[in-house]
Amino acid sequence: MTVQIDHALEEIRRFRPSPEFAANAVADAALYEAAQADRVAFWADQSRDLLHWDKPFTKTLDWTNPPFAKWFEDGELNVAVNCLDRHVEAGNGDRVALHWVGEPGDTRDITYAELTDEVKRAANVLTDLGVGSGDRVAIYLPMIPEAVVSMLAVARIGAIHSVVFGGFSADSLASRIDDAEASLVITADGGYRKGKVFALKPVVDDALTKSVGGSVRNVLVVKRGDNEVEWNAERDLWWHETVATASSEHEAQAFEAEHPLFILYTSGTTGKPKGILHTSGGYLTQAAFTHRNVFDLHPETDVYWCTADVGWITGHSYVVYGPLANGATQVLYEGTPDTPHPGRWWEIVEQYKVSILYTAPTAIRSFMKLGRQIPHAFNLRSLRLLGSVGEPINPEAWIWYRHVIGGGSIPVVDTWWQTETGAIMISALPGVTDLKPGSAQVAVPGISIDILADDGTPVEGEDGGLLVITEPWPSMLRGIWGDPERFKETYWEKFGDKYFAGDGARRDADGDIWLLGRVDDVMNVSGHRLSTAEIESSLVAHPWTAEAAVVGAADETTGQAVVAFVILKASQAAQVTDVAAASEELRRHVAGQIGAIARPRQVFIVNELPKTRSGKIMRRLLRDLAEGREVGDTTTLADTSIMQVISDQVK
Ligand code: WTA
Repeated sequence: MTVQIDHALEEIRRFRPSPEFAANAVADAALYEAAQADRVAFWADQSRDLLHWDKPFTKTLDWTNPPFAKWFEDGELNVAVNCLDRHVEAGNGDRVALHWVGEPGDTRDITYAELTDEVKRAANVLTDLGVGSGDRVAIYLPMIPEAVVSMLAVARIGAIHSVVFGGFSADSLASRIDDAEASLVITADGGYRKGKVFALKPVVDDALTKSVGGSVRNVLVVKRGDNEVEWNAERDLWWHETVATASSEHEAQAFEAEHPLFILYTSGTTGKPKGILHTSGGYLTQAAFTHRNVFDLHPETDVYWCTADVGWITGHSYVVYGPLANGATQVLYEGTPDTPHPGRWWEIVEQYKVSILYTAPTAIRSFMKLGRQIPHAFNLRSLRLLGSVGEPINPEAWIWYRHVIGGGSIPVVDTWWQTETGAIMISALPGVTDLKPGSAQVAVPGISIDILADDGTPVEGEDGGLLVITEPWPSMLRGIWGDPERFKETYWEKFGDKYFAGDGARRDADGDIWLLGRVDDVMNVSGHRLSTAEIESSLVAHPWTAEAAVVGAADETTGQAVVAFVILKASQAAQVTDVAAASEELRRHVAGQIGAIARPRQVFIVNELPKTRSGKIMRRLLRDLAEGREVGDTTTLADTSIMQVISDQVK
């Protein structure tokens, strides 16, 4: 079928699964029926089917103390054994687990047997370093196999990992280390990005001087960048001198289903990132279930590639835990999409015959801008399923993805979920659901979603409302590390026993769900969550700044972009003669304090900020300015002429 891409929206609204795809699909409509009939029993069946339990559970869900759920409570399992040893024992040890591709072009193929051995060695080293069950380990690594090995080694011994994205600054790393009281940091000398080595170990050194907790006893360092690093002989160890030489004999112990697995920090509406806590049995059940059914995984034949970094939840659930629990063969790529040439991803797809690709709309839009000739220089015919995550995918990008990357006839699944939900919550099931570009469509089997008005009444029809999850789900967050009150307040206060996701949504006449973006002060830049408050406090920490307001402005490529409005201190304003240099300095400052992903696209130096009579900054008006729109209703401002002054300054 040929489609005029520009007019696709009007011409075709739905895509039926092809009969061939449907005939071989992993998922079928019976999943919905089973979940409908008995949601809790459905998850129990899935968990028994998908995982190996050392001690089978007899209780599925305890929801007597909401919002603190317990799933599969009396069961015991080892998460790493589920991802590794059992595949080897089943005779699949020779299957490639990871086709790793380094940015400079070096590669490694690692089988399940090899990965299992490496994880056992690393587990022995962690134990020797005194890391035990329940202890926290910070992981600050590039996208190299050791990142996967580290996470699984930590899981294997029942410790808790906190992976910190390699793009975060020393300050961000230090605050995460302190909050979790990590006793070990696993890092690398450096990694490759855009053709250059970026240093990691020096950032860890810096973070440890900034850390106030003093919890870190050791730093385990992978040699990757060959960049020069300082060495603290009492504290630092090389991976190749410890893990590589350790024994690969390691008896794994089973842990309770609710044993903590990891903490992952994410931005909320306040300045301080939240340590989202996930546990073992329920998390792994839903990660494996969704990975298998949403991506139609046939582990014997598919080559799967999720382009997310392990520093984000997508990397946790759909690079590490879901795919490995399912025995998938996958690609792991260290670098950026455009290094050393803009066709790098497509070259990898061709080379490894990738059949399932999972990426973010921001990447798709960047490729759209560059043009189809770049992907079309490669053979992409191995692809048979495409996935999207991180932000709403606009119908044009969806159609482009399906046609230009997917050749026009393969399913595209748009998956909605969050760090907090742990696994996919809303998505079509390929082969079952008719696909609709731009809509994330329907709750996955076993998940109960609703859209409510602010007062908690259900919203009917196409009117937008607030997205809630009405029943507990296996991979739900179990709390915020060290802050049960904040957990209740953030997600459960608004609608009582229903989880409030922070997203707006609407349902169309077919019952399909369309996500409308965040309704709180969380921005979404290139699929990454950033908090307006966190960037504002970083700006205010600069000696020049008196006041700052940050908004997420629509951006063609990144979805949203950070735009800041800053009032300088009177004592400084006179000295700042070069406004461009000042705003550049403030952009640099934010990148240094939080990480390059938080660097504002623009910093406007202004004399005033729009405030209500009660002193609340009206970000809505600033967003109008930042997006180049006519400024909306200003009647609630304390001084209604202010927006004119600001907009003159911005121009
Ligand atoms: C947004 C990423 C629309 C949403 C897995 C959510 C999406 C936030 C989609 C979570 C999607 C994620 N359509 N919006 N398919 N996927 N989002 O925690 O606003 O990094 O609340 O998890 O991303 O971001 P997080």
